[in-house]
Amino acid sequence: MRVSNAQRRGEVFVPIHWTDCFTQQARSSALIDSITDPLSGQPESKHGAVALAPLATDWQATLLVAEGAAESTPWCASAYWTRIPMRGCQRWQLANTQSVDDWLAQLRTWLPGDVSVVSQDPTNGRLRAACVENGQLRWWLMVGPPNELPGLAWLEARFNETVLSDTHRRRLLAGCDDGAADTGPVVCSCHQVGQTTIVNAIREGDTSVEALGARLACGTQCGSCIPELKSLIEEERPNARTKQPLATEVV
Ligand code: FES
Repeated sequence: MRVSNAQRRGEVFVPIHWTDCFTQQARSSALIDSITDPLSGQPESKHGAVALAPLATDWQATLLVAEGAAESTPWCASAYWTRIPMRGCQRWQLANTQSVDDWLAQLRTWLPGDVSVVSQDPTNGRLRAACVENGQLRWWLMVGPPNELPGLAWLEARFNETVLSDTHRRRLLAGCDDGAADTGPVVCSCHQVGQTTIVNAIREGDTSVEALGARLACGTQCGSCIPELKSLIEEERPNARTKQPLATEVV
């Protein structure tokens, strides 16, 4: 859930095109009484009272799993899950109210293959781990809030490599090349556009959802990221330079 000035006061935005295949209890129509207009049959799906309550989670995690790497999805027993298809892998956003004492043991119950690289900080519960089999990246996990994610385009590319190079293998836990510009946490999942990329575009003068879509494609597919794009525009507008209109030459 995101609280944003871009949302009209007294209203909530819930994407309606999601199904149970993509997230737990995702069908917004299940929240609304099944009342239809007697003449047109149109459902009363845009009018309903809403009560919101926070889900007190103990942990959040991002799991990327190569296509065909896991036959089942036991992590869907978590209190919250969302699945986002990517090229060559599936991204899972997970959260649960029950703590995990031993993440490496938990991973053995969830996924095939041994952990190849791992980094763990017991003081704050953060963990990153990945499994490489026969030179191929099979899965990658980060336990921690999603705003700590690297831009996922680099990792997505690694899932599509037949054999990982030693250099890429060494950078797996970082999730980016050494010294590469990080595009920030993903805001638009459909087009894998990161927050830093969007903020830079706004500062360069693309101060509307349409302008960002034309430049970066963000917000042009399912539309779920549009409220977040509007928030970023509002936050960054004071830092945006005025874009000069293109000069037109009349001959
Ligand atoms: S998340 Fe679907 S268009 Fe941005």
